[in-house]
Amino acid sequence: MVDVILGLQWGDEGKGKIVDFFAPGYDIVARFQGGPNAGHTLYVGDKKVVLHQIPSGIFHQHTTNIIGGGVVLDPVTLKRECDVVASFGIDVKKNLFISERTNIIVPTHRALDKASEMQKGENKIGSTLKGIGPAYMDKTGRNAIRVGDLLDKNFNSQYKELRNKHQILLNNFNFAEDISAWEDEFFEAIEFLRTLNVVNSEYFINKQITAGKKVLAEGAQGSMLDIDFGTFPYVTSSNTISAGVCTGLGVSPKQINEVLGVTKAYCTRVGSGPFPTELENEQGEELRRLGSEFGATTGRPRRCGWIDLVALRYTCMINGVTKIIMTKADILDSFKELNVCTAYNIEGKETDEVPFAISKVKIDPIWEAYKGWDCDTTGIKDPTNLPVEMSKYIDFINGYVGAPVKYVSNGPGRDQIIQL
Ligand code: GDP
Ligand code: IMO
Ligand code: MG
Repeated sequence: MVDVILGLQWGDEGKGKIVDFFAPGYDIVARFQGGPNAGHTLYVGDKKVVLHQIPSGIFHQHTTNIIGGGVVLDPVTLKRECDVVASFGIDVKKNLFISERTNIIVPTHRALDKASEMQKGENKIGSTLKGIGPAYMDKTGRNAIRVGDLLDKNFNSQYKELRNKHQILLNNFNFAEDISAWEDEFFEAIEFLRTLNVVNSEYFINKQITAGKKVLAEGAQGSMLDIDFGTFPYVTSSNTISAGVCTGLGVSPKQINEVLGVTKAYCTRVGSGPFPTELENEQGEELRRLGSEFGATTGRPRRCGWIDLVALRYTCMINGVTKIIMTKADILDSFKELNVCTAYNIEGKETDEVPFAISKVKIDPIWEAYKGWDCDTTGIKDPTNLPVEMSKYIDFINGYVGAPVKYVSNGPGRDQIIQL
């Protein structure tokens, strides 16, 4: 049986904290897509940790953590991250497993990401520059090197062939940066990767499922960044939605049980692209300040706005969300009034659907105003103590999107979560 936790907005919904919270109830936590573009924050005691590639179940000794075949893996970031995790006394050689099918990000992927963004100029995607797009292009272009290839004696020549292909592209981009230092650290990290557990993860996971073990699939990014259903072209290069679990881990759709969708009580986006409910005013700045909305991977300020129920209903639909987890509700504690977007006005026409041309048209959100609760909620443990205004806000969301909010997260700490 597989449950899924994934983001319903444009990423950074608080997935790391939520996966860490639920992990004790599972035998396996597995990442199924994305790569080091992700930054998942969680707290171990009072120490903050940001994970990019290692699943967020790693701090639970009994949990097996898997990097699935749908992931693109940067060995350099992985090595660094393993050092951080090891400093907490966790033995990654014991409970981290990597799929043979996982595609490897090589230094020239990062260079190509940078060169492509530079060429796009004003129209850049706002990529994290971690090489994600070029690595997935090599996967679908059937050129990629995969983790299983590390065990092949021809690995070095396979690498050189790929690097030479990339060099031609880089020359076309007039990209002249010296990346030889990146290559040195890459080969050092490859040696480290060879010491980790590399498995045929589809057999590994399915055998565990047959034995009655519970798997938690951890999404990265958010559904509005999905390559097929997001705000194309301002998206990432993988399927971030629940369908990606099957292709990313090699499990059948019949095995998917709960789909837990994580949304902030408001909305943020980092990078370029449409964001209908963005507040380019003091309220937006207030959300950024109170929510410390700066990227966990790049440090960039996140764009902030009110919750977008048109987009949320859409992402609940395409994911088959069974339960919603609402995070950062506490960030709204001091607002006297809140707004929720219930429809889009596009050139005079009202719609409650996400349009195909979302990245091309001007969208004016239609708002419904809600009275804020205007009190500190960070210490609440019992759902009956939630302010009545918050309950009304949640009831409205439940009714609109057609999936129930079952948990409210009221602070970054592991124990700051209320089950409704
Ligand atoms: P992820 O990428 O979805 O895992 O989210 P990030 O880690 O990038 O960003 C979420 C940020 O919000 C992190 O700094 C978390 O520590 C923090 N956070 C998560 N849940 C809550 C919450 O309920 N309240 C507050 N105040 N912070 C939270
Ligand atoms: P987590 O898992 C927020 C955004 C980038 C950019 C676009 C494409 O922490 O929620 P990419 O590097 O993937 O080619 O960038 O996607 N992006 C994220 N935004 N959270 C993330 O991950 C993101 N991963 C990528 O900012 O707009
Ligand atoms: Mg993040």
